[in-house]
Amino acid sequence: MFSCVRWFQPFLALLSSTLLTWGYNCPSSCLCPDHHTVDCTGQGLTRLPDSIPLDVRRLLLSNNWIPWIPSDFLVLYSDLVYLDLRNNSLTRLEPGTLTTSSRLVYLDLGSNNLTEIPSGTFGESRSLIKLRLGNNPYLNMVSKDAFAGLTSLRELELERNALSGLDVEVLSQLPSLRVIRLEGNPWLCNCNFAKLFLWLLENRHKLPTGLDGMECSLPGDGRQVSLSVLSEDSFRECRGLLTLTDYLIVIFSGICISVAAIIASFFLASTIHCFQRLKSKRTDEEEAED
Ligand SMILES: *[C@@H]1O[C@H](CO)[C@@H](O)[C@H](O)[C@H]1NC(C)=O
Ligand SMILES: *[C@@H]1O[C@H](CO)[C@@H](O)[C@H](O)[C@H]1NC(C)=O
Repeated sequence: MFSCVRWFQPFLALLSSTLLTWGYNCPSSCLCPDHHTVDCTGQGLTRLPDSIPLDVRRLLLSNNWIPWIPSDFLVLYSDLVYLDLRNNSLTRLEPGTLTTSSRLVYLDLGSNNLTEIPSGTFGESRSLIKLRLGNNPYLNMVSKDAFAGLTSLRELELERNALSGLDVEVLSQLPSLRVIRLEGNPWLCNCNFAKLFLWLLENRHKLPTGLDGMECSLPGDGRQVSLSVLSEDSFRECRGLLTLTDYLIVIFSGICISVAAIIASFFLASTIHCFQRLKSKRTDEEEAED
């Protein structure tokens, strides 16, 4: 029995290595320098290549014309750690493309045609460390919760997009953030910018180009100034100024309180009425007994 296994061993080894080779297809027009890397850089691809091995860890797809990736992509390729989609034609990302279970550490979506980053785009991808979103010339909206849950994110690139403003919560929600690139956007130095400016003052060490590298246009004459010439005082007329959302919150809470008060008094009145009726009924009964 034992000798039999020994006799079979080389045969088994040969069989399993053949199976491994068979199981490992490299997509046509891509290179696979090692068992975990698929490199399809600059192949003129207009969609994701077929037959990417399921255990791929590094997928290089930059300099192609890929317009979208399916939302279950990272469910399928759950070992993926490094995904480079730089310089493609992506216009949007399906919500839920990245999930909590994703192992993705590096994601490059720079130089695409993204227009907005809605909330929930990246799920709660806790492994993600570097996210590159720069050079998307139509990207003018980053929703407040766009990066919520990216607890490991250390580097975020949003440079050279079309952002004129950014809710400061987008950045203050990122506990591990070390580097943030925001230069080259058409920032508007109005009162909405004030909160972001204060955050940038406190976190200027996270800006690779410093405050000098960022410019914004003044609301009056549209003149471009470097953020380094501005100070907290530049926004002093914004102090005490409520934004539209603040107004809406105040109005809405006013309405809620009034409704609650009306409901409460209604209940109180009904309860009192009820007790009174109960009492008078009892008195009637007592009188009848007498
Ligand atoms: C982007 O991709 C196109 C198509 O492959 C290529 O011609 C161009 O040089 C690339 N741009 C950059 C900046 O790499
Ligand atoms: C990018 O989007 C804009 C409008 O959103 C469109 O005009 C342009 O053709 C798109 N470019 C590419 C390369 O898809």
